[in-house]
Amino acid sequence: MIQQVTVIGAGQMGSGIAQVAAQAGLQVKLNDLKEEFTAKGLAVIEKNLTRQVTKGRLTEAERDEILGRIVPRTDLTEAASKADLVIEAAVENMEIKTDLFRRLDEICPVHTILATNTSSLPITEIAAATKRPEQVIGMHFMNPVPVMELVEVIRGLATKDEVYQRVEDLAKAMGKTPVEVNDFPGFVSNRILLPMINEAITAVYEGVAEPEAIDKVMKLGMNHPMGPLTLADFIGLDTCLYIMETLHEGFGDSKYRPCPLLRKYVKAGWLGRKSGRGFYVYE
Ligand code: CAA
Repeated sequence: MIQQVTVIGAGQMGSGIAQVAAQAGLQVKLNDLKEEFTAKGLAVIEKNLTRQVTKGRLTEAERDEILGRIVPRTDLTEAASKADLVIEAAVENMEIKTDLFRRLDEICPVHTILATNTSSLPITEIAAATKRPEQVIGMHFMNPVPVMELVEVIRGLATKDEVYQRVEDLAKAMGKTPVEVNDFPGFVSNRILLPMINEAITAVYEGVAEPEAIDKVMKLGMNHPMGPLTLADFIGLDTCLYIMETLHEGFGDSKYRPCPLLRKYVKAGWLGRKSGRGFYVYE
């Protein structure tokens, strides 16, 4: 039984994962490097839950119980030494992730499953940093985590069937719909989503249409909830570039070449919503 979950990284994804885990009745340790980061993550969770109270979907007592199940910890050993499952949602950097997984492998009990929320890095390579590659798996949540139904569950080369099954069951208990995927660059979600976004950026680059027009075509013509450029700003243009580079390098195919305009925006510090400017300007 998975009861104790440790979430590493209290940013947008990590705090969302901690929220849905606590809502599913699990005990959660939320870990980040500094107290101000865990405090910020907890404040977002509290705001989300309070909105549910206002809408009559939760009582104040239920909100407080859920919040009470999330304990912030900046020390990795304290955060992970009793975990049944660790879900890592730290920055998308292979060196940082392999270092974290090496440390987690030493800190965690032998039964602990180590999952990563990476959006495109190879699960198999992350798993190889540990002595338990059969217990390492991808658990890719979508943004915003409390709202989006999907979790891509990615098998590394060595992932055991039993580990896959336990993670699939847990994703369901968290109110999500898991989909089984094998370990290839970008998995399924980003292999398909990011080339579409990159193509939308190329359409801007080539002067086919203005960003607003491109988004309107995809929203009204294809019923997408957000146009691809609004979505790119939402995901973060640095993340979009990083995923395109992972696809380009992983497949060695020029069809995944990142659009030069995407590179230029990232170099300019236009990263989308989080920096106040991307394809749109945010106040
Ligand atoms: N956190 C928690 N709840 C949120 C939220 C957030 N950040 N943003 C919106 N919500 C909730 C709202 O409170 C609202 O809840 P209720 O229905 O209970 O009132 C609900 O979501 C709908 O929100 P809105 O009415 O404000 O706006 P909307 O109808 O436009 O929906 C959206 C917002 C759900 C984000 C929708 O625009 C959407 O689905 N966009 C596409 C999102 C998407 O594609 N995500 C995947 C990104 S790719 C990814 O994550 C993978 C990767 O590796 C890069």
